[in-house]
Amino acid sequence: MTGTHARWLDEAQERARDVLAPAVLRYIAEGAREEVTLGEAEAAWRAVRLLPRVLRDVRTIDTTADLLGTSSPLPLGIAPMSLQRAAHPDGEVAMARAAAEVGVPLVLSSNAGSTFADVAATGVTWWMQLYASPDRDLTAGLLEDAVTQGASAIVLTVDTPVVGTRYPAPEGGSVWDVADRSWVGVNARTPPVGVSPKDRDKAMDLVPEDLGRFSEMTGLPVVAKGVLRGDDAARAVDAGAAAVWVSNHGGRQLDQVASTASCLPHVVGAVAGRAPVFVDGGVRSGLHAMVALALGATGVFVGRPMFYALASDGVDGVRRALLELGTELEESMRLAGAASAADLAGVVSGPERPDLR
Ligand code: FNR
Repeated sequence: MTGTHARWLDEAQERARDVLAPAVLRYIAEGAREEVTLGEAEAAWRAVRLLPRVLRDVRTIDTTADLLGTSSPLPLGIAPMSLQRAAHPDGEVAMARAAAEVGVPLVLSSNAGSTFADVAATGVTWWMQLYASPDRDLTAGLLEDAVTQGASAIVLTVDTPVVGTRYPAPEGGSVWDVADRSWVGVNARTPPVGVSPKDRDKAMDLVPEDLGRFSEMTGLPVVAKGVLRGDDAARAVDAGAAAVWVSNHGGRQLDQVASTASCLPHVVGAVAGRAPVFVDGGVRSGLHAMVALALGATGVFVGRPMFYALASDGVDGVRRALLELGTELEESMRLAGAASAADLAGVVSGPERPDLR
C-alpha cells in the first residue's frame, strides 16, 4: 500500500524489515515446525462473517474495557514478547511508555531485557508474564519482585511445558548470533527460561492448583495464558484463574493447533461468564479485534505488530499502532451498529455465534 491511505501498521512492518537484522526479523516472525498454525491465524479472523445492525444510535462509541479492574480506553493490550531490546535500545521501556500514553496494559515477558523498576517508572499498567521455573524458590523471588514493583496481574503461560521447535532462516543465522543474553533476563534470578534450545530438557510441571497458589502468593489476579479448550478453561477458573487467555503462543509452540478465533467461542461458552476471556494470535486490525469482542472476548492482545512498530519508530511507532487499531475498532463498531462491546452480541453470523453475552 502506498500514499496517504496506507495503514501505519503496514508501513511500520515494512520499515521494520529494513532496520532489523535478518535473524531478529526471523525470530519475531517465526512459528513452530511447518508454521501451519502461524499461517492460519489471521485468516481465521478474516473468515468470520458479520451481520451488522442498522438504524442504531452509533453517534457515540464506547470502546472502554475493564481489564482486570483497570479501566482501559481500548479493549486492547500488548502481548508479552521477549527480546524487545533487539528491536529498540529502550526495548520494553519504550513499549511501556507508548502503552502508558494510550492507557492500555502492557504484559511484560519473563524474559524481558528491561527491569521491572524501569518499566514501572513509565506509569504503565503492567502485568507480569511468568514462565514458572521448576525451581519454586526462584519463581517465588521473581513474583515477589514483580509485586514490589507494582505489577497488577500475573499472566501464567501454560502452553510451554517445553519450547516448541522453530527453525531459524537458513541464511540469517540464529538470533543469538546478534542478541545479547542480557536482553532476555534482567529480572529473572535464573537463566532465561523458554528461549534457549538448551532449556528444552527442563520441562515445566504446572498444575491447575498453581493458579490459586500464585494468586495467594502475590495477592494478584492470575491469568492462564495459552488455553485453547473449553474443559481446560473451566478447570483453570475452578482452580482460581481470574481470567483465561486464549492463545496458541502466536503459532510458536505445537504446530497444527487450532486457530484462536475458532477456539474462542468454545472457551467463552465453557467459562460461561465466570471470568473474562482474553485472546491473541493474528489480530492485525481493529476489525479483527471487533470480531474477537463479538465472539465474547473482553480483552484482545496484540503481539508481532507491536514489535514491528517498536523497531520502526520506538515509542511513537507503538503509540500510533495502538491508536490506529483503536480508530479501526471504533469505525468497525459504528458500521456494525454496536455502540459498545455488549451490543456486539449476535453480530457474528454462522455457527460460531456464541449468543452468550
Ligand atoms: C512471543 N510470545 C510470548 N509469550 C509469552 O507468554 N512469553 C514470552 O516471552 C513470549 N515471547 C514472544 C516473543 C515473540 C517475538 C513473539 C512473536 C511472541 C507469544 C505472544 O505473547 C503472543 O501469544 C503471540 O505473539 C500473539 O500472536 P501475534 O499477535 O504475534 O500473532
